[in-house]
Amino acid sequence: MSIWTKRHVTVVVSGGIASYKALVLIRSLMKQGAVVRVAMTTHAAKFITPLTFQTLTQQPVVIDEFTTTDPHHVVHVALADWTEVMILVPATANLIAKVANGLADDAATTTILATTAPKFVVPAMNSHMYVNPATQRNLKQLTTDGLHVLTPATGMLAEGYSGQGRLPEPAVILAWLTDQLIQLTPDLPLAGRRVVVTAGGTREALDPVRFITNRSSGKMGYAVAQVARELGATVTLISATTHLAAPSGVKVVTVDSAQSLLTAVSDIFDDTDILVMAAAVSDYRPAELADQKIKKPADHADLTLRLTETPDILKTLAARKHQQYVIGFAAETQSLLANANRKLTSKKLDLIVANDVSKPGVGFNGDTNQVTLLRPEQQPVTTELTTKTAIAKQILMTAIADGAGTQA
Ligand code: CTP
Repeated sequence: MSIWTKRHVTVVVSGGIASYKALVLIRSLMKQGAVVRVAMTTHAAKFITPLTFQTLTQQPVVIDEFTTTDPHHVVHVALADWTEVMILVPATANLIAKVANGLADDAATTTILATTAPKFVVPAMNSHMYVNPATQRNLKQLTTDGLHVLTPATGMLAEGYSGQGRLPEPAVILAWLTDQLIQLTPDLPLAGRRVVVTAGGTREALDPVRFITNRSSGKMGYAVAQVARELGATVTLISATTHLAAPSGVKVVTVDSAQSLLTAVSDIFDDTDILVMAAAVSDYRPAELADQKIKKPADHADLTLRLTETPDILKTLAARKHQQYVIGFAAETQSLLANANRKLTSKKLDLIVANDVSKPGVGFNGDTNQVTLLRPEQQPVTTELTTKTAIAKQILMTAIADGAGTQA
């Protein structure tokens, strides 16, 4: 399930070289579960044929208002009433000017005027047309009228020179649309909740070029952050990993060592409703940090590292716990439930996610996981082996069922 599942989305395509990118966006929306229909201008049909959109969406394309032979069917109103989300992509200067002035002189503009659904505008045009005061005035009018407008990207234009006016990449458009839609959906289960997620393995420096870390990829924490956002929460992701793409709409704070992770979580803890400690925090760090690269001893003798314990973040924060619902993780290779239960109690957690990382497909690095959810005085719940996204959803739905973040 995503926020797009079964949504009726109408994509209005106007004519520009960027029209082809609408195809990629439509495919991505459909992959997310949206049902997409297309209305297009006659100029758009000079760039991409209606048949391409029709084949892709498996829905009729609205382009000419006067083609219907059904006397009971007003094409633009039927599509306008069906629409739950309307996206104008690419929106040319001409289409923007018409919409800003309420003009309705073809199927596309009539459908836009006739729908009450939220409208998202993704402009794309020549940079001089974009900065023209008339276009800027029209865009301002769209915002005043409650339409949501994405700022175009800067880069190489079809004209062969660089400027602002490029259609952002479809993945960027989808991320923006998803985030806008979440903000417009107040009845999501985590709306108004502040969720903090930690992810990745901390790095404990030994000298300027070396550090101690672990096999954590950060994928589980990133999945929790993304799903929490999709469920409507305001999400801060405190990440000890840098190689994963930030989930859209999520604030990312980058950290390094266990100590920097503690500082970052501690700073935000009082304003947190749900804390998900998915980070694999190093239990030890080198006792001394060498300020120069450590050299091999001349006699090639063994080297001994002295390690000192890092702070236990969850235990440190347990003393300051008020409204926070705190979720920990336990990655174990033996005595899974006994070890996890001990951590549930000693760290004063509301929920612990236990995974047996010795099993294939479970835990570190992969895209799948299988976990057991343990809560004080409740029966353990073991999930199937499934995607980390599905596991993230199960964890958060369990927390929501417990009233997470609503405690006084
Ligand atoms: N954790 C923490 N601070 C630490 C170590 C771990 O807050 N210094 C958190 C982890 O983020 C995780 C939970 O505690 O949510 C359990 O982590 P784990 O490494 O499994 O447990 P430890 O308490 O370190 O116990 P051990 O390594 O001995 O199994």
